[in-house]
Amino acid sequence: MELIHFRLPIDVGRGKHYSLKMSLSAERQVIPVVLVPPTSLTILTPATSANLGPGYDSLGLALQLYNRFDVEIGGHDPALPLIEVQGELGADLSTGPDNLFFRAFRLLFEQRELPVPAVKIRMTIAIPPGCGLGSSATAVVGGLMAANELLRIQNPALAYPKEDLLAPAVAAEAGNHPDNVAPALLGGLVATMVVDGKIEAIKARFPEVLKAVIFTPSFPMDTVAGRKLLPAEYSKADVTFNTGRVALLLTALQTGRYEVIGEAMRDRLHQPYRQALFPDMPAIIEAALAAGAHGASLSGGGSSLIALASTNFHPILQAMRETARSLGVDGRGMILNIDQQGARIVSPHKRSRKQGSYRRAPGTLV
Ligand code: HSE
Repeated sequence: MELIHFRLPIDVGRGKHYSLKMSLSAERQVIPVVLVPPTSLTILTPATSANLGPGYDSLGLALQLYNRFDVEIGGHDPALPLIEVQGELGADLSTGPDNLFFRAFRLLFEQRELPVPAVKIRMTIAIPPGCGLGSSATAVVGGLMAANELLRIQNPALAYPKEDLLAPAVAAEAGNHPDNVAPALLGGLVATMVVDGKIEAIKARFPEVLKAVIFTPSFPMDTVAGRKLLPAEYSKADVTFNTGRVALLLTALQTGRYEVIGEAMRDRLHQPYRQALFPDMPAIIEAALAAGAHGASLSGGGSSLIALASTNFHPILQAMRETARSLGVDGRGMILNIDQQGARIVSPHKRSRKQGSYRRAPGTLV
């Protein structure tokens, strides 16, 4: 007997929305199958540091600092999600339908030409927005992962493989650069590029011994505005300066030649131009190197700075902070391990038992 399957939402009060899974027989008889409890899920998406110096728009590294997104089917209007933001850092994020997480969420249903479900979203923000740590990429990747999981729950055939979320992620990211969304999705160190709209992204080995020492000034830097500062053309000398360093950086990381990372993280394509927005950047980078970092650069489009180190993590952070303070730049620091997993779904059951551990951002806050 040929059956058509569908779901009927039922409001059972107190904001809970069950759905009745039904089937329609060829004789147009409705056969109730099962009462499905409210669907909720949690996504953790890591911070990312893009560029790593010379790898403008092509290298990114995922870090063990997470934004968390709790999504529950519920509410009344699919066009008006109920969005709550937790964490002081997220105070300026939109809770309207233009919210970036929700726009990415909606995008995937539209791509499948399926109705967007009404949802409640709680965003717990541990990554400072606008500070070069891929905060917007967490929203884009988180929204796509949530939508994909709900599609999978509806029908496994509707879900995309994780890698196929890269193209919509790049499309949804302001500036359409792939070097934050790719490591946010896949984890680890990712080399990536866009070829005729198709995204190539390859995870490279990243040594476990290296940690990221991050200094985040108290001011944000707008990535899109920063990109507008870059010239339309570069000299051959500047291009070869960078191509050699990308090659050297990747090879040094694969072979353990950490002594060349300092030179390999220098850049002539974006950092010197963005320095106009952050004139004290070179002095803080120098302080990190002098305190024992292997290399250091602007993180993404700034304002954070990233230093890679295998020892002396606290003295490096201390040197960055003291130099910044002596120049009148306030900020905060973190020592972070590399995230190798990328964005992940955390089951509601696991979440409720371990809730405390997700609320605290890993890493050392100084
Ligand atoms: N590659 C991007 C840029 C990263 O430099 O604008 C932004 O985080």
